[in-house]
Amino acid sequence: MGLTIALNRGRILDECLPLLAEAGIVPVEDMSASRKLVFNTAIGGHKLVVMRGSDVPTYVEYGAADVGITGKDTILEYGGGTHFYERLDLRVGRCRLMTAVPASTADGLQMREGHLRVATKFVNVARQYFEERNRQVTIIPLSGAVEIAPLMSLADCIVDIVDTGNTLQANGLVALETIAEISSRVIVNRASMKTKFDEVQLLIEALRAAVD
Ligand code: PRP
Repeated sequence: MGLTIALNRGRILDECLPLLAEAGIVPVEDMSASRKLVFNTAIGGHKLVVMRGSDVPTYVEYGAADVGITGKDTILEYGGGTHFYERLDLRVGRCRLMTAVPASTADGLQMREGHLRVATKFVNVARQYFEERNRQVTIIPLSGAVEIAPLMSLADCIVDIVDTGNTLQANGLVALETIAEISSRVIVNRASMKTKFDEVQLLIEALRAAVD
């Protein structure tokens, strides 16, 4: 029957394609040389669908895709494990979701007491993180270039992805606390887990072998 597999375009896709290839899932044409968004695979009758990372959980939750590959950050922001099954850590796309502040205000390892304005793309994760710590915050949603928010006096603090730390450093920020360790994960639609059990299981085991 074949599986529909939703893939996070960009960096995650580049790192996941070799793993998929090792698991026997190879698109019939070069994905990077095409403007297409849906690709058939040579063996197995699977379909690869390329989309924004934040849409992968939506496609998987509603069953438009059986399987999805996206970052743990995106999964956490979507609301995690009740909407689908998280089945495998691909151990690529590794980074951290962190709080960061301007170097000038980073007194020790603690952010200053009192109310904080927090700029982020990860509004749900950030809200929950500060709520659990009984911090009064205003979450300021942004869609990118979050690091400039403190420079522009829009926020006191940011919650964002940190990989090398170069972006923080270049903008005079320092990382404070790690909210979550991030890597790419394989998620599975709840109904597909039952109706396409064998195919899903084969895929997961092949990917697990590729990761190991
Ligand atoms: C991410 C993140 C940071 C940067 C961190 O952005 O939002 O801006 O990478 O990487 P570094 O620690 O190695 O500097 P990305 O390039 O993925 O683009 P985005 O703004 O679309 O998320």
